[in-house]
Amino acid sequence: MTEENLIRIRAWFAEYCSSFYSDNEDDQRHFILKEEHTHNVCANIIRVASDEGLKDDRLLLAEATAILHDVGRFEQYHQFRTFRDSVSVDHAALGAEIIREIDLLADLFPHERDVVNCVVESHNVFLIPKEIQGDQLFFLKLLRDADKLDIWRVFIENYELPVEKRSEVVELGFPNLPECSPDVLEKVARRELVPLSSALTLSDFKLLQLAWVYDLTFTESFRVIAERDIVRRIAATLPDGGGVQEAVETILTFVAERIAEDICSVPL
Ligand SMILES: [Fe+2]
Repeated sequence: MTEENLIRIRAWFAEYCSSFYSDNEDDQRHFILKEEHTHNVCANIIRVASDEGLKDDRLLLAEATAILHDVGRFEQYHQFRTFRDSVSVDHAALGAEIIREIDLLADLFPHERDVVNCVVESHNVFLIPKEIQGDQLFFLKLLRDADKLDIWRVFIENYELPVEKRSEVVELGFPNLPECSPDVLEKVARRELVPLSSALTLSDFKLLQLAWVYDLTFTESFRVIAERDIVRRIAATLPDGGGVQEAVETILTFVAERIAEDICSVPL
């Protein structure tokens, strides 16, 4: 991967985004949201990957995966006006197909092409399949961390808006109810990820998002969470009772432990 390769991918993405621009205010808002999300995921991945010691071609490769990971979101929204894969299309598979169709990665080395394809295609899986290994696994984990760090921002900004300005598309249409399902709370307490199918209310969906901390890999990602106060800002939009505070404490403890572990593992 060279700087020229990346410049070409970046230019293609900018052009691709602008091909969806619309006079419809609501549609435009959602296209811009995904374009900005992509730019932020790029910044996040550069930070996390740099902390892992990546540089030169491997850092450029990481950024390429970030630019392309959500390409499928544009066509998904254009066709279905939703970001919910289960009622529309798998946006990751769609993105990989779009990239393959135009042969966007033709100039890359085959192993780099495999990495980008794998990351785009698999970035939204609930659990990473065991068959994904080596570099593909490493870059996929980087992207999943960088992606989540910005999805949290998107949700926080949405939740902090007045109710009438919030986006149902961002909230995946979940009913805005204070109730949290016992099953969701239990999973959070057991330090487990929560599948989307377990979420019944918007409060469940917020807990599900908090439980994403259990899927993070890199210590720098946990530092970003602490720095941006992500857990507390989401927690502030949840109801107080019914086991929510305990769930939030579990998450906060988990984040603090991951950061502390890294401090303890620095060789003396
Ligand atoms: Fe995505």
